[in-house]
Amino acid sequence: MKNKIEFFRHNLTEEDIGLANQVMHSIFLTTGPMVTQFEKRLAEYLGLPEVVGLTSCTGAMHLALLRHGIGLGDEVVTTPMTFVATTTAILQAGAIPVFVDVCRESGLILPEMVETAITEKTKAILPVHLYGRMADMRGFSRLAEKHKLVLIEDSAHCIEGKREGVRPGQVSHAACFSFYATKSMTCGEGGALACGSQDDASWYRSARHHGISKNASYRYTQKYEHWDMEIMGWKYNMDDIQAALLIQQIDRLNKHRKRRETLEQLYRERLKDVEGLKFMEPPYGSEISGHHLFTALVPKKVSRDKVIQGMEERGIGLAVNYRSIHTLKYFREKFGYHLEDFPNALEIGNRTISLPLYPRLTEEEVELVCNTFKDVLLTLS
Ligand SMILES: Cc1ncc(COP(=O)(O)O)c(C=O)c1O
Repeated sequence: MKNKIEFFRHNLTEEDIGLANQVMHSIFLTTGPMVTQFEKRLAEYLGLPEVVGLTSCTGAMHLALLRHGIGLGDEVVTTPMTFVATTTAILQAGAIPVFVDVCRESGLILPEMVETAITEKTKAILPVHLYGRMADMRGFSRLAEKHKLVLIEDSAHCIEGKREGVRPGQVSHAACFSFYATKSMTCGEGGALACGSQDDASWYRSARHHGISKNASYRYTQKYEHWDMEIMGWKYNMDDIQAALLIQQIDRLNKHRKRRETLEQLYRERLKDVEGLKFMEPPYGSEISGHHLFTALVPKKVSRDKVIQGMEERGIGLAVNYRSIHTLKYFREKFGYHLEDFPNALEIGNRTISLPLYPRLTEEEVELVCNTFKDVLLTLS
């Protein structure tokens, strides 16, 4: 059945598609001048010296860990309330993800909790800006300095945010972004890494393409020169088609963020009187959230999975972001986690439901989602 209201609709315009079309009519499709332009534009937007275009946020986190020498047996403290990619990147680097429980109100990990998990094996902290709200980067940067740790941000949910004057990538070693299909700007699959160091950026540009000395564009558009392999690399290079789809979306990021904020406020208003329904804490003061996802915690006495079923039967697309990672089979078996190890993440993960939130969603559609949601909850309680 086709949903009346999809969980997500992208915002690609004819101009975005037109630019990608131009690339497809050019001789060269992979990493080239469009990626360079995209990197410059995103770096300007973020107020950072360097952005490196990659194929995913997962790849970005993997490379960031490797760049900072994190590998076999090292511990990386992170959150269980995230997409598995945060932890698979750590595992791909050969390191061990160490979870701390999240704050019950925001779903974010907090510096004081992370400090309790630091051992002599800890090499890095990897906070996630969950649902668009930034983690306490000032606090994490103080902690990282105190314990001489690497700080890497999973910024898949937040390009647009600012907290206590800090934006993604400004006080960490690297911030990692996703342009996956449901993200605030997208090219289907894609990612980027932002950092303050030019040396790091040139390492990433080499490592994203097997660690070879001449990139693909150079090899085919300049006079032939032998290339060498200088470092061990991977295959994470963004191509010009992805960059062309993304580049003009950067200019719309702030407008779209504002629109999602307005829609989120409407959801909160319309659903505020539903008995037992809880929301994650909204941003406060001057904080700017990316408003990437709007999640609600269903009333305790109601089965979340039945709510999902009821909503889907009535044509509303939904998602669950996320069931806590420590409850997933691989992690239970490999690390021996028990459900009660991280009670806040468990509780959020068992009750959370994400409602549609994107700029093309209309006010009428939000009303319909809210009325359907209330109706489904009523029939189940
Ligand atoms: C919090 C979080 N981290 C990491 C990722 C991975 O991003 P990508 O698919 O670009 O590797 C996602 C993607 O959905 C995510 O939501």
